[in-house]
This record gives sequence, C-alpha cells and structure tokens, in this order.
Amino acid sequence: MTIIRAKDYAQMSWHAAKLIAAQVVLKPNCVLGLATGSSPVGAYQELVKSYRMGALDFSGVKTVNLDEYVGLDAGHEQSYARFMRENLFDHVNIDPGNTNIPNGMNPDEAAECARYDKLIADFGGIDLQLLGLGPNGHIGFNEPDDAFPTGTHKVALTDATIQANKRFFASEADVPRFAYTMGIRDIMQAAHVVMVVSGEGKAGIVKDAFFGPVTPRIPASILQLHAHFTLVADEAALSKL
Ligand code: F6R
Repeated sequence: MTIIRAKDYAQMSWHAAKLIAAQVVLKPNCVLGLATGSSPVGAYQELVKSYRMGALDFSGVKTVNLDEYVGLDAGHEQSYARFMRENLFDHVNIDPGNTNIPNGMNPDEAAECARYDKLIADFGGIDLQLLGLGPNGHIGFNEPDDAFPTGTHKVALTDATIQANKRFFASEADVPRFAYTMGIRDIMQAAHVVMVVSGEGKAGIVKDAFFGPVTPRIPASILQLHAHFTLVADEAALSKL
C-alpha cells in the first residue's frame, strides 16, 4: 500500500487525477473503473481541465462504474449514470458507448449481475479502479458482512449507508434500499486500485480499514492485500494514524 498524503481535498483530487491521467496516457485504450459520491468529484474536475488543455484523449478509454441504485433509471437526478455524465462523461471526448454502469432498472438480478461480470471479463479486467470509502468501510456498495462478496451482486444498503446518502435525496424515504455493485473480486482483480478519502469524518474508518485486521466487517480492509493499492488522502482523513 502506498499512501499519498495531501494537504486538503483539492490537493488530494490533483494527485488522484494525475494517477488516472498517467494511466490514460500510458494506455490510451485502458479500462477505468470509476466511482461516484463526493470524494472523486474534484479528481473528475481535474481530468476535465487536462482534457480541455489538450493533455488527455479519452476516445479509446472504456469505463466500468462500481455501482448503481436499483430502481433508478439512467435519467433520474440521483442515478449514478447521470452523476457520471454530469461530472465527467459530458465534458470529455469519451464515446458514450464505451461507458458502462450496472442497469438499475433490470429486474432480473441474476441476468444483470452476470452481464456486468462478463463485460468486465471481456474487457480483460480493469487497469485502474478508483474508489471512495464508505463511512462503514464499504467499497462500491460491498457492505460489512460475514464474508467478502465476490462478483457483481444486488445488495441491501445498510442503515449507515442510507443515512450517509440521504443528503443527496429529498428525504430519507427516497433513498433506494438496494443497489447493484461490483464485487470484491472484481475490485481486487484491478491492476491498480486508487482510493480517494477526505475529511476528519473518515479518519476513524481509514485507521480501522488499513491499520487493523483484514475482515469482511470492514470491506475496504481487504485492500491491504492488493499488490498495487494507492491511498490518496488528505491530512484530516489521516489524522488518526
Ligand atoms: C460510489 C461508491 C461508494 C462511495 C462511498 C463514499 O460509487 O461506490 O462506495 O465511494 O460511499 O462516498 P463519498 O465519497 O460520498 O463519501
């Protein structure tokens, strides 16, 4: 595990964007695994800046997002499909046909999960997977459990996640209760995993996840075993180490 210690959110975003940009420059047809939420927004803004300066070309890049809420269509204000368009895809020259997100409207859970796992396998895996860290240690929507879930699956969101994500919805009742998420195997098989974490509120879980035992009760802890894992965190998030 490599830790990049950033001063603040802006610097954290700059470092993460540099790692992603380097991946795109070194392998223009790379597969990027992408995340939503507050943590990666700044990194996406940096990537858009680099694209506008002519330093990045996304025309050959393929993307696979970590997760999507079950029951939200791609046009829904809070869907992760829309988040990705608004924060990145609409602002760079990526081919929309090369962007992939689980289909939250597919009621056939088995078919949707199999489709997504096959897609990742057919791409030959993920070159760089970007992650945020849930307040309960989740990565993607792999919630604390008795075992590490492997492939793409449908998950019931925990109360901690519903509480954390209600800020994006009109009310708590509007937060979807289920999501499709890539599994731990999909994430662990990525050649390089980059996690962005910011703020004092995450300091406790950063310590528990990366300086405590590896346990499915803290899903992110498994990243301690990844051969190429880079944690990009600001000083506040690292303040309990
Ligand atoms: C998002 C995702 C989640 C978030 C995590 C942190 O696609 O899979 O695991 O990365 O919940 O969210 P923020 O960054 O909003 O604190």
